Amino acid sequence: MQTTIGSDIGQAAEILRHGGLVAIPTETVYGLAGNALDAEAVIGIFEAKQRPRFNPLIMHLPSLEAAEEYVTAIPEVIREIAVKFSPGPISYLLPKARVVPDLLTAGSNKVVIRIPAHPMTMELLQQLDFPLAAPSANPFGYVSPVTARHVMDGLEGRIPYILDGGTCKVGVESTIIGTEGDEIVIYRVGGVSVEEIASVTGREVVLSLLHKRPETPGQLKTHYAPSTPMIVGDVDALIEANKNKKIAVISFTAAYPKVYANKILSPSGNLHEAASSLFSAIREIDRSDAELILAERFPDVGIGRAINDRLGRAGN
Ligand code: TXA
Ligand code: MG
Repeated sequence: MQTTIGSDIGQAAEILRHGGLVAIPTETVYGLAGNALDAEAVIGIFEAKQRPRFNPLIMHLPSLEAAEEYVTAIPEVIREIAVKFSPGPISYLLPKARVVPDLLTAGSNKVVIRIPAHPMTMELLQQLDFPLAAPSANPFGYVSPVTARHVMDGLEGRIPYILDGGTCKVGVESTIIGTEGDEIVIYRVGGVSVEEIASVTGREVVLSLLHKRPETPGQLKTHYAPSTPMIVGDVDALIEANKNKKIAVISFTAAYPKVYANKILSPSGNLHEAASSLFSAIREIDRSDAELILAERFPDVGIGRAINDRLGRAGN
């Protein structure tokens, strides 16, 4: 199959209406989309990504109202959060309605709903009369793509069309949030920070990261992984301990002039800028001759938490 990169939303919609797959731009990372209500299309996504079928997919819709028919309830606090942050880099774990295929949720009675903030994908979702299933558009276990070129590098020959919407602005995946009883629970840290959610709701937010819960199927600790080995920690000490290797360092603001390569993610110390350049930096290093990636631990606040989460999981 030939894979084309283009910006024709109408063509993308046609392929999707016929059960085909299209990579779509979002503000977080590129997604690999298919009709979420079509079991064959959903199977196609699992196969193109080589993703195990026990790992459920997120359903993308143009608004929370459009999600009403795919869920059985939307808690008031989730509506409050959605008013503030959707469309945007946040997804909601909600009880699923019967029309949602079990294959999509890997048998769970809950479905994750996301309203992405990218004008092209928003336009596409509005043209379609079905929701889109879309995991990140990378082969299973690898770093998520933030450009059309990254998608091509991983999925060329496996999908017909990549809708090119430029470089993803946020650069890390959406936050996944839900409720358990009266508690607001964050299942994946991402583009919307814990602090932002707490300030909007005026309530405490509990972190219950899916990948740290061994009973959750499909949540592997090693994920987002480059093929070059990677260690997160005290970079100076790690350089000292690995002197004989070609080292690439990923740092926040500091320069490491003596190593083989150094990606400084935000010289001005802006965590949002750092998040937006993280995955491109990892991919570039992975294509180079570097033998070992060393990464600093980032400030564990705001979107820095998502950066640390992805670095930690890439490095295991
Ligand atoms: O930013 C994003 O969320 C991107 C863009 C493309 O929208 N999508 C994304 O999808 O990151 P994916 O499949 O790479 O990550 C979704 C995560 C997976 O870890 C999956 O296990 C979890 O969400 N998930 C999806 N549906 C779930 C469900 N019903 N119950 C529990 N976890 C679920
Ligand atoms: Mg993914």
